[in-house]
Amino acid sequence: MSDSTRDIGQAVAALRRGGLIALPTETVYGLGADASNELAVRRIFAAKGRPSTHPLIVHVADVVAARTWATTLGPMGEQLAAAFWPGPLTLIVKRSARASDAVTGGQDTVGLRVPNHHLALEVLRAFGGGVAAPSANKFGRVSPTTAQHVREELGGELEVILDGGPCAVGVESTIVDVTGSVPRLLRPGGISLEALSTTLGVEVKRAENATDVRAPGMLASHYAPRAGVRLVAPSELVGPLPARLVVIARASIAVPSGVTRLVVPEDDAGFAQVLYARLREADGLGEEIWVVPPDDSGLGRAVADRLRRAAAPRPH
Ligand code: TXA
Ligand code: MG
Repeated sequence: MSDSTRDIGQAVAALRRGGLIALPTETVYGLGADASNELAVRRIFAAKGRPSTHPLIVHVADVVAARTWATTLGPMGEQLAAAFWPGPLTLIVKRSARASDAVTGGQDTVGLRVPNHHLALEVLRAFGGGVAAPSANKFGRVSPTTAQHVREELGGELEVILDGGPCAVGVESTIVDVTGSVPRLLRPGGISLEALSTTLGVEVKRAENATDVRAPGMLASHYAPRAGVRLVAPSELVGPLPARLVVIARASIAVPSGVTRLVVPEDDAGFAQVLYARLREADGLGEEIWVVPPDDSGLGRAVADRLRRAAAPRPH
């Protein structure tokens, strides 16, 4: 038996017992539990320190399984699922009786996703049911993109941590609500707004109701490291700059000598992939983090969104 076959068996056994596992996906690592087991789902909230009214995404192996968690995916849901699953897209659809209040936060909708990572898919196929999984980090903190990040933050709470290497996409899934007559983008992510609009043949608009705090990814302050974060333009990177400052910027952007700089790739997909790892790294190096964000288009929109939330005033 290979290591990975053994690990998958252990992960599935843990899920069946109602335990918590770390599940690698292409976006970020998930903190997974059996979505049909309310006690197990409650353990997710306890481990994360997340308010129990905030709904979780149910991960399934394929679109056939997804349909069993919904009354219907609807024409838009079916179209998007066919185009982007497995992949970094979460559909918000009307829930079936299978989706409990514990998972949906009492709402009549459920978030569904088929992740594009071989280990996640093998676990989901072998398990057979749905796996509820938020990002495997403490509430409000930076999402994990390596197994080591998960170990550092939640190691003690998990029965199995599957190591699937660094996440390929690096930012969370795009969340689209397809329950209405027009699609609504709830969270920008690994699938761009442009790609969604092209597939559906209608312009997908960003839902701007910041009052909808039931989606924590929509809270103003989220994805935050301990150090303060500020978004800056390249023109602000001229001396004198604060002591204990770390700058996160592309190599093509000039930074005064003597200032610690962490480089990110020039392209938006590359920036997304390393975003959370750089924020964690910067957190260990300085007291203030300045970041030059990418433009608000394509994958850059998701990166800029996460950075704005990392930089937002904190509640405590
Ligand atoms: O890429 C991802 O989506 C990762 C990986 C692990 O799959 N998961 C993730 O989960 O980011 P989490 O819990 O950190 O964020 C899920 C988002 C939350 O903002 C949640 O409120 C929203 O999905 N969500 C889930 N169900 C919803 C629903 N029925 N209506 C509105 N928002 C919902
Ligand atoms: Mg999260």
